[in-house]
Amino acid sequence: MTTQIQPKLIIHGGAGSSLQGKGGVAKVRQLLHGIVEEVYTMLLAGASAKSAVIWGCQLLEDEPRFNAGTGSVLQSDGQIRMSASLMDGAAQSFSGVINVSRVKNPIHLAKFLQDASDRVLSDYGAAELVRELQIPSYDALTDMRLQEWIKDRQNNFQRTMAGVIAESELGESSNAGRGTIGVVVLDTKGQVAAGTSTGGKGFERIGRVSDSAMPAGNYATANAGVSCTGIGEDIIDECLAPKIVIRVSDGMSLQTAMEKSLTEAGANKRDLGAIALDAKGAIAWGKTSDILLAAFHNGDKLGDTLELPVGKQTGCI
Ligand code: GLY
Repeated sequence: MTTQIQPKLIIHGGAGSSLQGKGGVAKVRQLLHGIVEEVYTMLLAGASAKSAVIWGCQLLEDEPRFNAGTGSVLQSDGQIRMSASLMDGAAQSFSGVINVSRVKNPIHLAKFLQDASDRVLSDYGAAELVRELQIPSYDALTDMRLQEWIKDRQNNFQRTMAGVIAESELGESSNAGRGTIGVVVLDTKGQVAAGTSTGGKGFERIGRVSDSAMPAGNYATANAGVSCTGIGEDIIDECLAPKIVIRVSDGMSLQTAMEKSLTEAGANKRDLGAIALDAKGAIAWGKTSDILLAAFHNGDKLGDTLELPVGKQTGCI
């Protein structure tokens, strides 16, 4: 008889610089906690880490307040191009799509590619795959994101990244969180998986590649898994997700690996965040950005990182 392990789960809806008012916090908390509860229930029923990650990413991609799938930000030419990846820690197998358009759930393409011989596809290849799989064309554009793009165009795209949290000047519906999304899971068999999905930084050059569909932003082995959020270039420069996972594989505790990696990122003035868990059941998070929209379930309790102090913070449970 195989021993059942207590499953663990952590998800994020991005990292950034502002969370507007208590109404914003309450709404983001409600959204993230609802998704954590749904995915955790699935894990308790015996779902694999990989399928729980895919389901969690789908729920987050379908939520227009987050910058992935529906509600993705627009690039400099006014188009949406999304990126997503899935890493199965047990198989140590990475798959993903880069800059794909007109699809509802980019994470489903990453799922399909897990079993393919060519496992990471970009623009034309990803579009061809969508056509091959006969996935219906889908417009991920929301009015909110269009207005944001029009406004920023007037300022010649001065911002380095689209708002993680929409500003209230754009209407009541814009008070909640937005950002790259990610899910990291330990299932009842002790297997780890990680998934990350994004609309990108927003206002970027055509062809810019996000960390979210690179191991730098999404990585897992049998020992640990990490999903990153924040400025992709900063995450790539730190090679953040594998750095944390490899430190754990080499014997460091998850807490120390997160703390050391985020201290280095902070010293390098990076703007990012990460969620992680290990095969022993530890859950960790860290940020150098002002806010990190993460929520977790460790089997005993559900919690979140929505009201951490501004500046570099790490935590472990
Ligand atoms: N971390 C998401 C991006 O920079 O594209």
